[in-house]
Amino acid sequence: MIGGYMLQGKKIVLGITGSIAAYKSCLIIRQLVKRGAEVQVVITPAGKEFITPITLSALTSKPVVSDFFAQRDGTWHSHVDLGLWADAMVIAPATASTIGKMANGVADNMLITTYLSMKAPVFIAPAMDLDMYAHPSTQQNLKTLQSYGNHIIEPGTGFLASKLEGKGRMEEPENIVACLEKFFAQKESMKGKKVLITAGPTYEKIDPVRFIGNYSSGKMGFALANECANRGAQVEFVCGPVSSAMQVSHPNIHRTDVESAQEMFEACKTLYPSMDSAILCAAVADFAPETVAVQKMKRTGDDLVIRLKPNPDIAALLGQMKKNGQTLVGFALETNDEESNAQSKLKKKNFDFIVLNSLRDEGAGFRTDTNKISIITSNTKKDYPLKTKGEVAKDIVDELECL
Ligand code: CTP
Repeated sequence: MIGGYMLQGKKIVLGITGSIAAYKSCLIIRQLVKRGAEVQVVITPAGKEFITPITLSALTSKPVVSDFFAQRDGTWHSHVDLGLWADAMVIAPATASTIGKMANGVADNMLITTYLSMKAPVFIAPAMDLDMYAHPSTQQNLKTLQSYGNHIIEPGTGFLASKLEGKGRMEEPENIVACLEKFFAQKESMKGKKVLITAGPTYEKIDPVRFIGNYSSGKMGFALANECANRGAQVEFVCGPVSSAMQVSHPNIHRTDVESAQEMFEACKTLYPSMDSAILCAAVADFAPETVAVQKMKRTGDDLVIRLKPNPDIAALLGQMKKNGQTLVGFALETNDEESNAQSKLKKKNFDFIVLNSLRDEGAGFRTDTNKISIITSNTKKDYPLKTKGEVAKDIVDELECL
């Protein structure tokens, strides 16, 4: 057996699109088949211009799926069945056009309908020239796909790296296969575990049209939810008001949407007793207006005073509820005296560790796609370099698994 048993018996849908790198798909198939995987190719019409279905079906020992109906006898090809059959879907090469359609649900070929019906994790290996890759629309679509929990496979580290040189070229077949093996090797490491994750900002109502909020996008929390779910955990995801573009698609993630700190607290209080861990990533407002005006407030007088009352400190309350065997992880976003502030929050809220990010570090904090963190326990501190939020989530969950 080559490269271990991780892919033995795994069912892989391989999507091929119209790129010159399509010939490399043959090498991906050969390596997958050698490792004992079953491969079903779905190819776009443009993909067939670059490689013939006969070559592909000979390598996979299965007819290639391309059209919605089999041309010979009119049998319907069910994308829904393929979505249920697969253990993973790999789209390699993925052109800018296919990436755009995937990100926006343009289901005009069999590959996109299969992608939209896919219940298994999806891996995408972009292949295009640098200008197309660097175009903001491509970058935005890749970010969108990553926020849906899809895995982007690229040469080098992190597709959101600020340097784009050399990017766009498809990752080598052996590395794509290695990514899959690594994924299946760690997939089950959190099976049977239940994790509560909070994410996003909270909104505290002032009147029917105004609120007190903050700049949190929820991206770090989404990355954490996807990472835990990908490792087999059941995730209770309690999410403040985030952009409607922020969606979860992993079947292990159960999402509860809340608006205020009080609502987030109620949800967490109910869920935490049955959890193994909680990661509190939300940027919770510490105060809310004492009263909410029933009608829209009018501009009167020269100033306006809004009196605020304290919100529950969700982290501190869960810290008090924490039982033996349960773990609790918090975040601290600081602007000054970072380490000592993080240390005092760690103690005050009874966290097992705290993830510190400083607003002084470029690329860290709210609304960015990257983060630079330190993981702090009562007697250790680990500093990490600037990474994508997806990579940062891996580091945090690795640490959680070590507790
Ligand atoms: N947190 C929470 N509920 C709150 C406030 C914060 O659960 N009402 C959690 C956050 O999700 C984060 C951690 O507590 O994991 C740190 O939040 P932060 O607001 O920095 O802590 P505070 O104690 O409110 O400190 P500060 O005085 O800096 O506001």
